Amino acid sequence: MISLGQQAAASSRRGRLLVLAILAFVPGILHTALAAGAGLSKDDQTCLACHGEAGMQKSMAEGEKLSLHIVGKDFAGSVHNAVGCSGCHAEVDLAKHPAPGKKQQTLREFSIAKVEACRSCHEDKFKLFDASIHASLLRSGNPMAPLCSDCHSPHAVRAKAAASGPIDQVPCRSCHSAVFKAYAQSVHGLARAKDASGGAPICADCHRSHDVTAASSGNQIKEACLGCHFNALQQHKSWLPNAAHHFEAVSCPACHAPMAPRRVDLKLYDSSARERVAEKLGVPRFESRAKLADSKGQGLDALALQSLLKQFNSENGEADTVLRGRLEVDGGPEAHMLTTKDRAVKDCKTCHREGAAPFQKVSISIVGPDGRALRHGAQQDVLQAPTSVDSVRGFYAIGGTRIKLLDLLLVLALASGVAVPIGHLTLKWLAKKYLPKSDTAAVARTDTPNSQETEK
Ligand code: HEC
Ligand code: HEC
Ligand code: HEC
Ligand code: HEC
Ligand code: HEC
Ligand code: HEC
Ligand code: HEC
Ligand code: HEC
Ligand code: HEC
Repeated sequence: MISLGQQAAASSRRGRLLVLAILAFVPGILHTALAAGAGLSKDDQTCLACHGEAGMQKSMAEGEKLSLHIVGKDFAGSVHNAVGCSGCHAEVDLAKHPAPGKKQQTLREFSIAKVEACRSCHEDKFKLFDASIHASLLRSGNPMAPLCSDCHSPHAVRAKAAASGPIDQVPCRSCHSAVFKAYAQSVHGLARAKDASGGAPICADCHRSHDVTAASSGNQIKEACLGCHFNALQQHKSWLPNAAHHFEAVSCPACHAPMAPRRVDLKLYDSSARERVAEKLGVPRFESRAKLADSKGQGLDALALQSLLKQFNSENGEADTVLRGRLEVDGGPEAHMLTTKDRAVKDCKTCHREGAAPFQKVSISIVGPDGRALRHGAQQDVLQAPTSVDSVRGFYAIGGTRIKLLDLLLVLALASGVAVPIGHLTLKWLAKKYLPKSDTAAVARTDTPNSQETEK
């Protein structure tokens, strides 16, 4: 039986002979024809005389099987036809090949070694990749971290295929299958499946392809949304007071994935450095401190949260670690279940009423060593505790006991149309008026006059 690769090699050899006959004296044109993928070079055909054989394989030292079969037809149609096998396998010397050589232990080791071949021609992509979460996972030895060759099948890279193919061929799918499933059913996935050139985003449009960072870090994703939906702020302003502030305190999916469960994430934030507090490499503090403060393992209560903050503050010598709240969807796949605008959360009461569902789950987070958030659960009532007015700075308008305050603010805001300044000032005033002098004393009594009085 003759293998696919041999067929391809044979037929392209015939094709090349013809081309050779015509172009024998015009090497420049011949080179261009080959670079455009017209066929395979003679050297490559030599390699494929063996490697075109289906079923060819070898064993790694630990027993895994490495398939050595390369499909000539795919390679002939790939962008790398022009550079030839030797473009990436310069180490193969036919005079000595196949040499028994020293065996690599595992397939993974083999892949990691081979992918270095890409560097000589695509140094720029390595630079981007090196700063990604994937590269950081790779450096830490995570066997699932993607290499160039996991996203670009090295013997079949087609022009622009990674960006413009059918959605189910997106390279991210194989490892993030749950996210892909959610995405495929989203307003973007459906639109993209119908028309790949219609402008609806796929993974890399929101996350980038090489410099992928942790999803919860920074504002990149929001900026990606607003890069395409550049009118969004204006459009939301028409019905949502202080829309810019909502865009800060509520993630886009929290309203646009209406069925997804939500949580309030209180992020440790360094107010003098103006950035989120990050775990220092090699000095894990957060998890041990959170566990210690949360002795019963039921989630941090207001007192424990305050003592956790104190530990971070005593470290810096200044009380500049605060909490910044954000309403988000609870779960990775769920963040992708974006629907059409008519189904988005519009009713203010979904969030602005007592016991509002989105505010029933609370987490505290810090930026972990690879950029992903480390989270610890907190009890729901940390949002209402009077101490939180100070520590949960800029996030007071939360469903729960103090919500009556917000109702008052809403009336003021809607009536006057000047939500922000009045809202903040009024709240500060109310907080001062009702908060006892000593925060600690107030926390010790969870049923503070503040929450009781304002609620009734
Ligand atoms: C005569 C047949 C033959 C030819 C021609 C040949 N190979 Fe191989 N190749 C083999 C065999 C057999 C192995 C498995 C060797 C082993 O078991 O370690 C192999 C292994 C390989 C490997 C895996 C390397 C490794 O570290 O195990 C690569 C890559 C490779 N060949 C590339 C090429 C390239 C590129 C060419 C053309 C320049 C080529 N081969 C030509 C037979 C051949
Ligand atoms: C764009 C770079 C590139 C080109 C061009 C290229 N290879 Fe490879 N090749 C690789 C990489 C990277 C791997 C390691 C893949 C992995 O992780 O298993 C590899 C692996 C192999 C292997 C081991 C089997 C495997 O799939 O891992 C063989 C055999 C091989 N190449 C032969 C060839 C032949 C024959 C050609 C030309 C027809 C060729 N290669 C062209 C990059 C290339
Ligand atoms: C996690 C998956 C992933 C990994 C890992 C990855 N890429 Fe890509 N790459 C993509 C996607 C998706 C695209 C298409 C979208 C785009 O252009 O950004 C792409 C596009 C490209 C392009 C063409 C884009 C251009 O600007 O011309 C090159 C070249 C490339 N990658 C090389 C590499 C190299 C080299 C590595 C290893 C350092 C690598 N890629 C690692 C997903 C990946
Ligand atoms: C010897 C140089 C060379 C090496 C080594 C090399 N490439 Fe390329 N690569 C090219 C050339 C040339 C192109 C075509 C550039 C273009 O069309 O702009 C290309 C294009 C690409 C593209 C872009 C396809 C598109 O979307 O147009 C990707 C992806 C890619 N290479 C990935 C890789 C990966 C992965 C490796 C390592 C396995 C690798 N390359 C190794 C020369 C190389
Ligand atoms: C070979 C497997 C693999 C491929 C392919 C892959 N990833 Fe990943 N990715 C991982 C692993 C493993 C992690 C870390 C664990 C996790 O979050 O699932 C990760 C993490 C991430 C994260 C950070 C998650 C967080 O918690 O913040 C993002 C974002 C991401 N990948 C996006 C992508 C995109 C976009 C693509 C395609 C361009 C892609 N990945 C392709 C394996 C892969
Ligand atoms: C408080 C909830 C909420 C938040 C937060 C929110 N949206 Fe919306 N969004 C809506 C609602 C409700 C609509 C439908 C408004 C209407 O009735 O026209 C909408 C409409 C849209 C539309 C369609 C606009 C049009 O009129 O065609 C886009 C696009 C959009 N949002 C993007 C975003 C992006 C991007 C973000 C994050 C930066 C975001 N939204 C944050 C609730 C929200
Ligand atoms: C429309 C923009 C958009 C597209 C398209 C998109 N994502 Fe996301 N992705 C997000 C947002 C928003 C989040 C949540 C960010 C946060 O935590 O605030 C997220 C989170 C993630 C996470 C982290 C999940 C976790 O466990 O926390 C991964 C992994 C991820 N996306 C991978 C992908 C992959 C793979 C695709 C393609 C199938 C994709 N994304 C498509 C916007 C997008
Ligand atoms: C690459 C550009 C691009 C990016 C990035 C992008 N979108 Fe979209 N979005 C589109 C396009 C195009 C459509 C229209 C799809 C269709 O044809 O139905 C759309 C549709 C929507 C809709 C439905 C609007 C309606 O009229 O019902 C919402 C909501 C939305 N996007 C929100 C977001 C959010 C939130 C993000 C970020 C997490 C985001 N988009 C990122 C291009 C983008
Ligand atoms: C998905 C939940 C959600 C929805 C829906 C929502 N909000 Fe909000 N809103 C919030 C959160 C969270 C804050 C907290 C902002 C902060 O204090 O940081 C907030 C803050 C506010 C503030 C105070 C802003 C400030 O800076 O002082 C006003 C006023 C407000 N919302 C009015 C409304 C109105 C009116 C609607 C309906 C048209 C609405 N919100 C819909 C979640 C929501």
